[in-house]
Amino acid sequence: MTIRIRQLQKVYRVGTERVHALRGIDLDIAKNEFVAIMGASGSGKSTLMNILGCLDRPTAGVYELAGKPTHRMNATQLAQVRNQEIGFVFQSFELLNRQTALDNVTLPLIYSSKRWWGVRKRAKEALDRVGLGDRVHHRPMQLSGGQRQRVAIARALVNSPSILLADEPTGNLDSKTSEEIIALFKQLHAEGQTIVIVTHEEDIAGHAKRIVRLRDGRILSDSPTHEDVMHQDYLRRAAVTAVSVAKRELGDADVMASVSASVSASVAEVKP
Ligand SMILES: Nc1ncnc2c1ncn2[C@@H]1O[C@H](COP(=O)(O)OP(=O)(O)OP(=O)(O)O)[C@@H](O)[C@H]1O
Ligand SMILES: [Mg+2]
Repeated sequence: MTIRIRQLQKVYRVGTERVHALRGIDLDIAKNEFVAIMGASGSGKSTLMNILGCLDRPTAGVYELAGKPTHRMNATQLAQVRNQEIGFVFQSFELLNRQTALDNVTLPLIYSSKRWWGVRKRAKEALDRVGLGDRVHHRPMQLSGGQRQRVAIARALVNSPSILLADEPTGNLDSKTSEEIIALFKQLHAEGQTIVIVTHEEDIAGHAKRIVRLRDGRILSDSPTHEDVMHQDYLRRAAVTAVSVAKRELGDADVMASVSASVSASVAEVKP
């Protein structure tokens, strides 16, 4: 098991108040899974991701990553595990704006590598892998939003992490660019990468193989995407909307007839 979590809790202290962000999470994630974490704002998604990514520690409970008990580690050990095992992608890309794409991707290697030899080559390969081989000398401002997120994904991948974590990776992107980024995640998953993403969008979550839903710091449901009741309900509603739009536009009660009419109509339209 890549990830093993038992009764995980996180309590934030703000002045004299305590915020129970996670209230006892049990979660196992195996190698090469592709998981989407969903839930309302404030349900604990980012808190969970930050712990998964060893950016923060739980207040109580067990978190083993690749067999290592991270909940018992001090900050230095945690940083080491983070460097070796984790690739993290954020909603806001978090790139260094004065550095080129290549420099941004090289950075984690400089922190982790004992050997300098081959570092640039590995960074270039990571950029090739995300389809940015021809943009290595561009700075973030000279790239589109989707390309910036690709640089961030290349940076997350460059150390060959056991797990790729992405907290709302498409949150700042338009829907077409979001589809491109999710297609890249699917490609990485097909190549064997374990992936966990947080998203608010059912469309995006639909590409993952499993959906974990949080509510008030607890797991509400955890099921394969094709068995997730809320997701299936969303797909049904989307289909009904598509059909009613087709009906309205064509003014025909027989849906099959309207669909075929709409196809012949568009074929007729493209003919000169
Ligand atoms: N650093 C912090 N200090 C205190 N409370 C925090 C901190 N970070 C998060 N919280 C609280 O913990 C709860 C969970 O927050 P979290 O950021 O995990 O939610 P989320 O599910 O990621 O929400 P969103 O969808 O808005 O990103 C919230 O009630 C939030 O106010
Ligand atoms: Mg969040």
